[in-house]
Amino acid sequence: PDRILSGMQPTGGLHLGNYLGALKNWVPMQDTGAECFFCAVDMHAMTVEYDPAVLPDRVRGVAAAYVAAGVDPERSAIFAQSAVPEHAELNWILQCVARMGWMERMTQFKDKAGKDSERASVGLFTYPVLMAADILVYKATHVPVGDDQKQHLELSRDIAARFNRDFGGGEIVFPLPEPVILPTGARVMSLKDGTKKMSKSDPSDNARINLHDDADTIAKKIKKAKTDPEPLPETAQGLETRPEAKNLVGLYAALTGTSVEAVLAEFGGEGFGAFKPKLAEAAVSYIAPISEEYARLIGDKAEIDAILKRGAERAREAAVPVVAEIRDRVGYWRP
Ligand code: TYM
Repeated sequence: PDRILSGMQPTGGLHLGNYLGALKNWVPMQDTGAECFFCAVDMHAMTVEYDPAVLPDRVRGVAAAYVAAGVDPERSAIFAQSAVPEHAELNWILQCVARMGWMERMTQFKDKAGKDSERASVGLFTYPVLMAADILVYKATHVPVGDDQKQHLELSRDIAARFNRDFGGGEIVFPLPEPVILPTGARVMSLKDGTKKMSKSDPSDNARINLHDDADTIAKKIKKAKTDPEPLPETAQGLETRPEAKNLVGLYAALTGTSVEAVLAEFGGEGFGAFKPKLAEAAVSYIAPISEEYARLIGDKAEIDAILKRGAERAREAAVPVVAEIRDRVGYWRP
């Protein structure tokens, strides 16, 4: 049977990139009969500077966004990563499986640490190993994520394969987890720079559309979004050298459930003055039901905490036997 795991960092409110790239894809997976585990990865959020006083509320915010987007706490385990200590326990074991050469190829560390990598936390460097532990501690088979997580998923597969080889005694201990990446929306870019991804950590809030933004804010952000002076092209080829136009057309396609080609068939030859209001309309009507449900849930701390508690219990039920097996396989003492 399939097992699905995914997670998001509680480093700020979720945005349209998180939704279109990943969260949207989690909802239908609940109908496949697979066991689903969705966590707020608070331990990953500690790898950069953060405020411990706000972290628990951020975890609640991520959980509320999951539910608002359609993740059903009856069918899926929704939980905080730190509430399932088996993630941390497997993390150490996998740190001893991962190779320095593999880690040094990780591009996200280089991007996030910047030039001054001497000052980055060690946790930021080993971040992808903890991510592998998140996945493998459930023996997850499928991981629905945005395009930017591809390299991390490849590392998880390398770690799983290496563990199987070194400790499996001929058996497959960990199935190799498959990334599940959507054809549209997997790479939503910043509204201010079409070459940068839309991100929670962008200092400008105008660069992203948040799931909690109201209609006016969304319309304003789209109106201000960076574009070029040309009208929209007739074919997808014409978008290749125009990152901002490509992003907005891609967004419209993802929001309305059509293809880039279909959007260009409709808007090719038109200017952004005509296209942007349509895009704003699509974004507003798409986000409104999510943001309304989010606003309701976030006011009910007791309900969110009950969901997180139940989710952690269910997640532990799945993770504890896996860790017990792995402890034996790596040769930990037991009486
Ligand atoms: P995070 O918190 O950066 O993002 C959460 C999810 O949203 C996707 N995403 C995007 N998709 C499209 N366009 C964008 N602009 C965009 N920005 C973010 C991400 O691909 C991701 O699916 N390392 C992960 C969190 C994590 C995880 C895991 C994921 C920790 N452990 C185990 C899966 C399985 C991260 O930083 O995601």
